Amino acid sequence: KIENRASQLLERMTWSEKIGQMVQYGRCEDREIDLIREGKVGSLLNVHGAEKINELQRIAVEESRLGIPLLIGDDVIHGFRTIFPIPLGEAASWDLDMMEKNARIAAIEAASEGIRWTFAPMVDVTRDPRWGRIAEGTGEDTYYASLTAAAKVRGFQSPNENGYPMTAACVKHFAGYGWIEGGRDYDTTDMSERVLRETILPPFQSGIEAGALSVMSAFTELSGVPASGSRFLLRDILKGEWSFDGVVVSDWESIEEMIYHGYAEDRADSAYKGLLAGVDIDMHSGVYLEHLEHIIQKQPSLQKLLDDAVLRVLKMKFELGLFEYPYIDSNKREQILFNREHLEQARDSARQSIVLLKNEGAVLPLQPAALNKISLIGPLADDPHHSMGCWAWKGREEDVVTIRQAFISRISPSAEVTYVKGSGVKEEIAGGIEEAVRAARESDMGVVVVGESEDMTGEHYNRAHIELPEPQLKLLQAIKNETNTPLVVIVMSGRPLALEWVHTHADAVLEAWHLGTETGNAVVDVLTGAYNPSGKLPVTFPRTAGQIPIYYNRKNTGRPHLYEDYVDVDDTPLYPFGYGLSYTTFEYSDLQLSAEHMMVDGSIEVTARIKNSGPMDGAETVQLYIRDLVGSVTRPIKELRGFQKLFLQSGETKKVRFTLTPSHLAMRDERLQLAVEPGEFHVWVGPDSERGLQGRFRVV
Ligand code: IFM
Repeated sequence: KIENRASQLLERMTWSEKIGQMVQYGRCEDREIDLIREGKVGSLLNVHGAEKINELQRIAVEESRLGIPLLIGDDVIHGFRTIFPIPLGEAASWDLDMMEKNARIAAIEAASEGIRWTFAPMVDVTRDPRWGRIAEGTGEDTYYASLTAAAKVRGFQSPNENGYPMTAACVKHFAGYGWIEGGRDYDTTDMSERVLRETILPPFQSGIEAGALSVMSAFTELSGVPASGSRFLLRDILKGEWSFDGVVVSDWESIEEMIYHGYAEDRADSAYKGLLAGVDIDMHSGVYLEHLEHIIQKQPSLQKLLDDAVLRVLKMKFELGLFEYPYIDSNKREQILFNREHLEQARDSARQSIVLLKNEGAVLPLQPAALNKISLIGPLADDPHHSMGCWAWKGREEDVVTIRQAFISRISPSAEVTYVKGSGVKEEIAGGIEEAVRAARESDMGVVVVGESEDMTGEHYNRAHIELPEPQLKLLQAIKNETNTPLVVIVMSGRPLALEWVHTHADAVLEAWHLGTETGNAVVDVLTGAYNPSGKLPVTFPRTAGQIPIYYNRKNTGRPHLYEDYVDVDDTPLYPFGYGLSYTTFEYSDLQLSAEHMMVDGSIEVTARIKNSGPMDGAETVQLYIRDLVGSVTRPIKELRGFQKLFLQSGETKKVRFTLTPSHLAMRDERLQLAVEPGEFHVWVGPDSERGLQGRFRVV
């Protein structure tokens, strides 16, 4: 039905109106308003406010010849007004239902302002923490990223009260953006087709199979061809092999940027190459508006490509119900934005995202009643803006509960709390260190909140040094060297930082990412044990940037002297993928496989018992890894193929059960075809990528 409606509408459109649907602007001033009236703009981004959006919609619907509604998009990455943890942090929860719900809430809030298209999820797998946009993805592992991609697409596109998707999701950036050289944003990517198909593409495919209505083409070039001009990526793989029938939108001006890549001669040539490749909407550069009409006049055979693109855009608008419901009821907005349920969800996801990295001598949980004085120190202890992280434009600072505020309301009643900033994020404060040392010396416990500000992570905020900024390290070193006070370090960051000094010298370390609106409440929940930390790292933490790329599913090589690869640094990770501690302990036992052999088209069950052998109730993410020992193509030493998050009361034991099927064991053979090859497999069930009970079976 949608297909018919879209085709019928297409037949009534002039070439100029058709091209209009392929034009998107990232601002809306007088010129763009006139263009909307003329049917020459089909979608917008960066326009905010329900009233404004309703008015623009009215112009499109009532004043343009065909009355085609606008589609308003935005970067709703980890919340809209209620801010959830950055995606990398959220991924540490290993809770797919939670991620789906967070995406749904973000979509509900965005849609209440008329935003019906979100440029998320970012599903780029990356192994480079120098890249600022590592914060926006769910880490280094393709299998996990595929599951999180699908969960987020389901959440963003869950039905609204009229049964239409709340927002259209957009899996981005197709493809290879996370593989940039040196972690430098927008830089070159080059990789084998094997890496592309094994590591990069599966999360996109998974998001599309979950129903994603759109895909964004990357800024970057892939093996010599800019992604926004790549017929191989967009026509052959996406629209061909995968039969994707949704919309491809370029990244911001990425069609025009093909000129600077040296792939297009001028703006006209870039528009031509974008159309040829299959980019259906030009984000902001205006090259389609300026040149497509002339291009198809010169080469009428291209009309069918243009019609195909417009049909896709119209179908998306029909699928979102924009023709039936172009306007939003702005009165409802206040009950929707930032309501109690959304806040509770933000708090729960923030505490589930925190990872306990070290806890020597069980210094945590804090017992405020047993402590007279606690000093809370650090540039990020009371900073609402940076607590929200990158891409949180619609979040408001006044909504954020900082760690200091949560200390005042929840810790001060039992213990005296002194707050000292001590240093800025990137700069020293005169006398700050001395004041902090004094406060720490007079306390029974020093809690120091350090890390990255929001503007050190996200798009274009890459770092060559991934340690703590110097002033903050000096602050920590002074407290450690000049006091005997137990030291708890809370790290806020948008990437894995190189935390060797912190790990060696602090008594306890928590990775708190950028947690969003409920930062303070979540951190205090974990510090006090009101919530037993359960997060596990979705990405390897190196000791130093020199180890990059470092990731768990590496190959064995011909000289598998693992971890002896450098003469000047221990080549183990500081914290491996999947790692995270708890205030309780979990014992793994009784690994069993349902058979010693599995048929290539059969399945095998793997079970194990997990006991909470410690003093507190808590959750544990049990992970299953496999290794295909010998293949026609070499395989990684470990590959994640399952996980389950269990809640166990103290003393309780549960049995976990995983079923391995051919899809878990399949690999791409020499010709890149998916195949399950007979031979020996190892399997581990464990608490992270380095530990676990090991079994084996043969595929026959
Ligand atoms: O969606 C983003 C993209 O991820 C990076 N460039 C700008 C786009 C729109 O804001």
